[in-house]
This record gives sequence, structure tokens and C-alpha cells, in this order.
Amino acid sequence: MTELVTVEDHSGVRTIRWNRPDKKNALTRAMYSAAAEAIETGDREKSVKVFVLGGQPGVFTAGNDLMDFMEAPPHIGAAETPPVERFMRALLNAEKPVIAEVDGVAVGIGTTLLMHCDLAYASERAQFKTPFVDLALAPEYASSLLFPARLGRSPASDLLLLGSVWDSERALQAGMIAGIFPSGTLADEVHHRALALAAKSPGAVRQAKALINAEPESVDARMLKEGQLFAEMLQSPEFAEAATAFMERRKPDFSKFG
Ligand code: COA
Repeated sequence: MTELVTVEDHSGVRTIRWNRPDKKNALTRAMYSAAAEAIETGDREKSVKVFVLGGQPGVFTAGNDLMDFMEAPPHIGAAETPPVERFMRALLNAEKPVIAEVDGVAVGIGTTLLMHCDLAYASERAQFKTPFVDLALAPEYASSLLFPARLGRSPASDLLLLGSVWDSERALQAGMIAGIFPSGTLADEVHHRALALAAKSPGAVRQAKALINAEPESVDARMLKEGQLFAEMLQSPEFAEAATAFMERRKPDFSKFG
């Protein structure tokens, strides 16, 4: 049977791809579980530094498999965490960066999950849509909090209330994605950026990601927190390597750090 989720490791980059193109990569419980497993294990493995989450040429994902949903609706308080929640929590809790690569439709959770990735890039043929109200459902996985906070209230309502379809230009303008590339080069562009991140100090990347995603606090409290971290990190072997490499006019080698 074809793997419905493929996982490939290459030079510190773990690429996870939805692989059910005949169903527009509609996500089943098994697919969520496989992707969650790949993120949870990769976050613990020293050799994995960065995740890329993508689909197939022309399709990211049509969101939850609607049949699967009706067969086994996830519910709060279930004895076991539903696979979709396990996957979204794996994304939320990942200490290592996750880059989304969107080449085609991103419906429902396909768009919601972008808010839980650190960076997202799309092709010119990507489309973003969260038709929860159209399906008589509620927004999910903190999208009603994160969309207004990140995109602004009106753009969030355009997506979550009206169910408008956004193209890549609109998504870029709203700050949902970090860049647009032709579909033929998107995967390479994303991989190139993932490799660049994978070559950086893992400790510094982890700390910066945690700070960027931390709950809001006062400027004063954040300055204090950053100051303490900065002082601690000045003592770290990773900073020693960065500084020595600068003096020796060479590229730093962080490969031995996890
Ligand atoms: N769940 C289950 N099956 C899905 C699906 C989903 N979310 N999205 C697509 N499929 C299936 C279709 O039923 C169809 O199966 P079939 O070939 O056996 O009939 C196949 O994938 C291709 O879909 P199709 O609608 O023909 O492709 P399209 O290119 O015309 O449209 C979409 C693509 C994504 C715009 C459209 O399929 C769609 O709107 N899907 C539903 C999205 C949705 O509501 N997601 C849930 C959000 S909570």
C-alpha cells in the first residue's frame, strides 16, 4: 500500500508530506497519527533540526477527511487523544522549527495549521480557505484567536466568517505566508531555507522560536527574559563556536550540537 504520509530525512531536514493526491490529501486519523509521530520523534532526535510539512504537486490538503470525521468525530474528554489533536499539539509543542510548503489547496485545517508553523511558503497556485461556518462548524485549533492576532480582525473574519478563498498574493499581503515561488521551484526554495536553518546553532534557533511564540507579556518582562537568556547563551559552547569561526574567518559548524 502506498504510504499516505511520507517522511524523509536529509541533512538535518525532516520532510513530511501528505500523500493522498487522489483525495486531494484529505486527512484521515491514520495520516494525523503518522505525521504526529514524525514530529514527536524528530523533535527528540539530535540529527533532525528542522521540519518541512508539504503535500504533493498541486495540492497541500483539502482538510479533514469528511467521511473519517463523521465516522469518528473527535471529542473533548475522549479516553485517548484524537489523532488530529495529537498532530496539532505536536506542531504546537515542537521545539524545532516547522516550515510549511503549500502548492495548491489548503482547506480547513490545512490553513489553520499554518498558524502553528514557523514559516510558510506557497506557490502561485495555492489557495487558502477555512469554510467552517459554511459547514455549520466552529473554528478550530485556536484559529479564532490566532487569525485575528496575526492577520487582523477584518482579514480573520473574511476567512472565518465569510469563508473567502484567498490566493497566495492575498495570503502574503496579510502575513500568512512568508513568500511565493513558482510551483516548479517551491520545493527547492523551501528545502534551501530549511537547510540554512538546519545549519544554524540548534540552541539559538530553539530559544528564538520559543520567544517568538511566547504568550504576550510586558516589554519590560520580555527585556528581562531576553537579557537573562542572552547572558546564559554567551557562556554556551555554541556561542564559542560561532565566535571562534568568526575570528578564524570560517563557517561555524554546529553539527555536533542537538
Ligand atoms: N474529505 C473527503 N474527501 C475529499 C475531501 C475531504 N475533505 N476533499 C476532497 N475529497 C475527495 C472528493 O470526494 C473526490 O473523491 P472522488 O474522486 O472519489 O469523488 C476527490 O477528493 C477529488 O475531489 P474533487 O472535489 O473532485 O476535486 P476538486 O479539485 O474539484 O476540488 C477541493 C478540490 C479541495 C476544492 C474540494 O474537493 C473541496 O472543497 N473539498 C472539501 C474541503 C472541505 O470542506 N474540507 C473540510 C474542512 S473542515
